[in-house]
Amino acid sequence: MSKFLITGGAGYIGSTTASRLLRTGHEVVVVDDLSRGHAHNVEPARLRRMNLSETDALRRLMERERFDAVVHFAAYIAVGESTQAPELYFSNNVGGSLSLLTAMTHAGVSRLVFSSTAAVYGNPDRIPITEDQPFQPVSPYGESKVMVEKVLGWMDQFRGLRSVALRYFNACGADPESHRGEEHEPETHLIPLLFRAIRTGTPVTIFGEDYETKDGTCIRDYIHVSDLADAHICALNHLMAGGHSDSFNVGTGSGLTVMEVLRAVEDVTGRKVPYVVGARRDGDPPSLVANSDKLRKFLGWEPKCSDIRAIVADAWAFEGRVH
Ligand code: UFG
Repeated sequence: MSKFLITGGAGYIGSTTASRLLRTGHEVVVVDDLSRGHAHNVEPARLRRMNLSETDALRRLMERERFDAVVHFAAYIAVGESTQAPELYFSNNVGGSLSLLTAMTHAGVSRLVFSSTAAVYGNPDRIPITEDQPFQPVSPYGESKVMVEKVLGWMDQFRGLRSVALRYFNACGADPESHRGEEHEPETHLIPLLFRAIRTGTPVTIFGEDYETKDGTCIRDYIHVSDLADAHICALNHLMAGGHSDSFNVGTGSGLTVMEVLRAVEDVTGRKVPYVVGARRDGDPPSLVANSDKLRKFLGWEPKCSDIRAIVADAWAFEGRVH
């Protein structure tokens, strides 16, 4: 049994990972300021409500609890919002991470799994994307994650911090065992918005159908949140076994268009999705698909439930619980 500190553990991916760690016999403490996460995602006894800027409080917590590793999810995640308020993203995502790393250094915690993103690649030159493609972020959100990945490189070299950065592609679905799912406010992600259109009858807008893809809509790599949570467990196992610092894409390796996802939602729910086609959304790359061979080969990860129908079925079941 190991003991982990989960920052952002009241959020969607953090709470799913925390509950999987608990189910596999590990001990977990969550730090979350609940600015974007939800208290109902964490048992009250495990929650320490604080902001990552509270370096001393974090250090004291780490000295008291003696964690084996930190899994660092806490961050703002909305690409559009990051273009409206870049300073918010740099101060929360970069500043918060620096404070956390400072506390870890002082408390002697030397392993970290970091939530990174496909947004570090911007508009990639080659699809599927391998980890050696250059950082070319096109939003402050993506840049904030690049900055932290770079800091982690220096922390490895000069502080002996061993870290794994997981670059998520499109996280979606809901974990059927822990009943954790997407509850973002405001919601910007495709699948919950397709469900909302079904529920309310108000059409969802498809952002552009003039891309050079098979049906003109954007291609993304949709990865079930339970498979994403498993990637964190693989990364923790690697670090606990003395593994070196590295970064990995977390995606299935296959892409789906927006219309393919919409059709899957109609098939699984048996309901029509009202939609209209609108303009392209600023900053949307035509296609983002992971090459995830590295994660499979070196950390033994395998997606188990990321078939789009399984994703939609689990997300729809979660939707039924909350609405
Ligand atoms: N889409 C629509 N209509 C909507 C919402 C989304 O057509 O109302 C389309 C988007 O244009 C995109 C696809 O659905 O083609 C998926 O969009 P999401 O907003 O669900 O996800 P993104 O691919 O934009 O973003 C995700 C993560 C980000 C991460 C990014 C990596 O949410 O955190 O992948 O590029 F940065």
